[in-house]
Amino acid sequence: MHNPHFTAYWRCPSNIAIVKYWGKKDEQLPCNASLSLTLSASYTELKATLSEKTSNEEVELVYYFEGQRLESFEARIIKYLNKHKAHFSFLSKYRLVLESKNSFPHSTGIASSASAFGALSLVLVDLYEQTEGKKISDNPTQTASEFARLGSGSACRSIYSGWAQWGKAENDTLGSDTHAVQITEVHEVFQNMHDAILVVDDEPKKVSSTAGHALMNGHPYAEQRFKQANERVMQLREILRTGDLQGFIEITESEALTLHAMMMTSKDYYLLMRPNTIAVIEEIFKFREQTNIPLCFTLDAGPNIHLLYPDNQKQNVENFIRERISTWVKSTIFDRAGFGPMQLTLS
Ligand code: PMV
Repeated sequence: MHNPHFTAYWRCPSNIAIVKYWGKKDEQLPCNASLSLTLSASYTELKATLSEKTSNEEVELVYYFEGQRLESFEARIIKYLNKHKAHFSFLSKYRLVLESKNSFPHSTGIASSASAFGALSLVLVDLYEQTEGKKISDNPTQTASEFARLGSGSACRSIYSGWAQWGKAENDTLGSDTHAVQITEVHEVFQNMHDAILVVDDEPKKVSSTAGHALMNGHPYAEQRFKQANERVMQLREILRTGDLQGFIEITESEALTLHAMMMTSKDYYLLMRPNTIAVIEEIFKFREQTNIPLCFTLDAGPNIHLLYPDNQKQNVENFIRERISTWVKSTIFDRAGFGPMQLTLS
């Protein structure tokens, strides 16, 4: 390989939405505001090198995922880079090699496109700043969030540590549709939130989220759903500020079930929950009623369960997982609120 002229290396975590983004318009803009927690143990690490071109393709890219050339994702990235190449002049001057790896296995209910596009946008901003010798904008983090959004909507929230909002709700002076913002007023109880990802099924997704978003066009309940999500983002911000665990549980679980209800009531209806998903959810309800322990679940666009709980309940919830639901759960990934993306050094 030719000597690299420039390199960039970033780690970006995934995130789990509490208020869900479901439905998009125009250039990857959300139909409603969403709010998520950025994780720490589930991340993508992406190394980028710019070296001399070897062909006259406009954007020359080679993409390796966990050591293997992955042409399906490479095609998606080339499409993305071609669309945004005007912002990154280095793309037409150099050959770009991307080497990516995830800390988590595939199809486990962790949004890999969020961490992958988060990492890609951070690497692009870094390479821009190195090749141009200047900052990309007054607010490079916000710019990275914007480029992440253009790759995969939910990725724009992964650029921030802790809690992040994407999309503008009504009468909201903080949120924006083009990039995510960090929620900084957060009570201690929500700063150290845990997310145990309970894998009940590790088959690849049957319906992509791109197809799911599209089914919100003309969905009979779409307008009401977008309004509800916007209201809930505002309510959740207040809940995060005051430390209201009961309010958090109600919004979190209703959001998970509403997301899946939208799938079940769309024109081409489909079902992503599996029997074990329901068994675990019912056991969570029962356990909470018996013990008053403030744990709750959310779901992404898949069958696996994210079990959320505050730090002071760690032991109780780990016992619950071991003693009451292990027959339905294939594996558990213990994750928690994290510190956001991190620049790595090349060894
Ligand atoms: O960013 P996308 O297009 O993969 O959509 C993500 C949608 C959900 O994960 C279901 C919800 C969300 O807000 O992350």
